[in-house]
Amino acid sequence: MYPKQLLLALMGLILSSVQAQKRIPEVEQLLQKMTIDEKIGQLNLLTPGGGVATGEVVSQNVGEKIKAGQVGGLFGVAGPDRVRKAQEIAVKESRLGIPLLFGSDVIHGYRTTYPIPLGLSSSWDMDLVRQAAQMAAKEATADGINWNFSPMVDIARDPRWGRIAEGAGEDPYLSSKVAEAMVKGYQGEDLAATHTMLACVKHFALYGAVEAGRDYNSVDMGKIKMFNQYLPPYKAAIDAGAASVMTSFNDVDGVPATGNRWLLTDLLRNQWGFDGFVVSDYTSLNEMTQHGLGDLQAVSALALKAGLDMDMVGEGFLTTLKKSLNEGKVTEADITKACRRVLEAKYISGLFDDPYRYLDFSRPKRDILTMEHRALARKLATRSFVLLKNHNDLLPLEKKGKIALIGPLADSRENMLGTWAPTGDFKLAVTILEGFQNVASEASINHARGANISDDTDFAKNVNALGERIVIDERSPETMLLEAVDLAKSSDVVVAVVGEATEMSGESSNRTDISIPESQKELMRALVATGKPVVLILMSGRPLTISEEFAMPVSILQVWHPGVEAGNAIADVVFGDYNPSGKLTATWPMNVGQIPIYHSAKNTGRPAPESGEFQKFRSNYLDAPNTPLLPFGYGLSYTTFEYSNLSLSKREINQGESITVTVSVNKTGD
Ligand code: BGC
Repeated sequence: MYPKQLLLALMGLILSSVQAQKRIPEVEQLLQKMTIDEKIGQLNLLTPGGGVATGEVVSQNVGEKIKAGQVGGLFGVAGPDRVRKAQEIAVKESRLGIPLLFGSDVIHGYRTTYPIPLGLSSSWDMDLVRQAAQMAAKEATADGINWNFSPMVDIARDPRWGRIAEGAGEDPYLSSKVAEAMVKGYQGEDLAATHTMLACVKHFALYGAVEAGRDYNSVDMGKIKMFNQYLPPYKAAIDAGAASVMTSFNDVDGVPATGNRWLLTDLLRNQWGFDGFVVSDYTSLNEMTQHGLGDLQAVSALALKAGLDMDMVGEGFLTTLKKSLNEGKVTEADITKACRRVLEAKYISGLFDDPYRYLDFSRPKRDILTMEHRALARKLATRSFVLLKNHNDLLPLEKKGKIALIGPLADSRENMLGTWAPTGDFKLAVTILEGFQNVASEASINHARGANISDDTDFAKNVNALGERIVIDERSPETMLLEAVDLAKSSDVVVAVVGEATEMSGESSNRTDISIPESQKELMRALVATGKPVVLILMSGRPLTISEEFAMPVSILQVWHPGVEAGNAIADVVFGDYNPSGKLTATWPMNVGQIPIYHSAKNTGRPAPESGEFQKFRSNYLDAPNTPLLPFGYGLSYTTFEYSNLSLSKREINQGESITVTVSVNKTGD
C-alpha cells in the first residue's frame, strides 16, 4: 500500500469505530429481533405510483409487502390520511411494527411552488434559500412527508442537459453554499421536530457532467476536475448534516455510481465520514445490468457490498439478497449494516417514538399554501430574476397607458411552475396577465397569444409527455401573428413573454438547440419591426442561446420558471416595485458549439488574444469568440453602480484562513 492509501485506510477504521460508538441502543435491540428477511425488507423503497414515475416500473402489491415486512419506505404517497393508512399497515400489521419513511421530491416548494432551483440560486442569497427550504419542509411534513429527495447539487456546465434547472449552476463554491443552506432549511436543528425532514443530497456523483448533455449518459472525468469542481457541493451537504445520499444513474470511473465502492464507501464514508444512508436512484440498481455488470442478483450483491443501503423501486435487494447470502456472495453483516442505517434514520426522525408524528390532520389547512408562504414565494421569485438588458432604460414601466402583453407564455398557467413540481398545482399559479392586472390596474392591458411555443408537432409531443405544456392553437400561425402585430401597433409599449415551456427542461428534457423556438423568434422579429418599445420577458429552465434577440433594440428580463406567484412577481419587477438583483449562476453561451463554457476554466498554454481577434495556432474558434454572450455573475439593475478602491486585507493566505476584501460601491444612476 502507498503511504497515502494506508493513511486513508487508517482514517476509515478510526471513523467506523467512531460511528460504531455512536450506535443507537434502541436500533441495536431491534436488529437483534429481526429475521434476515425483515432486514432485507428495510432496504426496499417502493412507490405505489402516486407521484411522477420516472422509470418503467411502478410497485405492485404494496400493501401486502408492507404487511410482510418487505418495505422500508414509500414515496409518491402524501396527505395525512393516505400516509396514515400505509403507516398503520406497517405499525399494526407487520410482525415488528417498524414504521415506514415517507419520501417525496420536494424540489422547489411543496404546494407553494417557488422558482426552479437554478432561478433561486440566482438570488445569491443564502438566507432566502434556507427560508425557502424551511417553508418546503413545513408544508411537506404537514402532509406526512419526512424525507425529501433534495437538494440536487450536481454542478452543471452543459445547458443542453435539462436538469441544469434543478441545481445551482456551474460554480462549486456557490453550489456548496446553496447545498448547505438547503440541508439546514430542510433538517433544522432537530430531525424529530414535526416541521423538519431528512434531506437527501443527490445525485452522487457527477451526474451534471453527462456526456453531450444527454440525460443518464456516461461521465468520464479526471480526479482534479472531480475534486475541485464537481464533488465540493455534495461534501458541503454532508458536512451540513444531510441524513441521506442518492446515487446517480451515470458511471464514475467506469463503474456505475450505484455500485461504485470507491465512491460510496472509500470516499463518502471513510474519507468524508458520512454516517447516514445511501439510496439508489429510480431503478438505477437494476440498470447496472444494462451497464454490463451482470444479472439482477449479481448487481444487487455488488451494490450492497459497494455501500448502497436502500434500493429505489427496483426490488433487486428484496428479491435476490437472501439467495446471495445463501450462496456466500454477501454476508449477514453486510445486510445488517445497511438495515441499521435505514433504522437509524427512522430513529432520528422520531418515528420509533411516534410513527404518526407527522400525521396531524389539522396541519395541512394550517401550514400549506398560507398567505405567508405565498408572500415568500413571490419574494423569492422577484429575487431570482436577472435583468439581461435594459435598452434605453425602458424598464421599469409606468403603471399606465396601453400595454400589449403578447406571447404564448403570457397567459399560460400550465407553464409557470417549472419542472419537477409534482407536489405543486399549476392551477393555483398566477399568470403574467393576471399579475399585470393585479399590480398595474390603472393601465390598459391587452393580450394576444401571437405564436405557439413551438409549431413543431413532433417536438410538442415529446415535451407534452407528462401533460399538455405546448398547446398548438387552432388558428394558423399567420393569423395569431397578425393579431399580435395589430395589438402592438395600437399600444404604447409591448411586453413579449417567450421562451421555454415547463417540460422543455428537467429530467430527460435535453435539447441540442437551446435557442428560443422558431415560432417565437418570428413573433419577436415582427413585434420589433413595429417600432414600438419592446420588453422581452424570457422564461426558461436553462441558459439559452439568444444572440439574435440580444442584438434587438429590446429590454430583456430573465424570469426562469418562477412558481406559483409567477405573474405577481414579474409584475413587481416590470413595474419597478422591486429593482432586479439576480445574477446568473451559469454562463450563457453564444452558441451551442461553445459548450461547455464556464467561468473558472483553466488556462491554456496558447490563450486567445485579449482583443478577441482570431489568431492562427491559438486556442480560439474560426467562427465565434471564446467569450460567452453572458458570463457567470452577470445581471443588471435599474440603476448603475461603480465599484472602486478594491483592496485585500493581506497578500497571502493559507488553506483554511480567510481574507477581507474591501470595495467602495457608489450608485451612479437614478
Ligand atoms: C430522479 C430523482 C428522483 C427520483 C424519484 C429519478 O428519476 O433522477 O431525482 O428523486 O426519480 O422520483
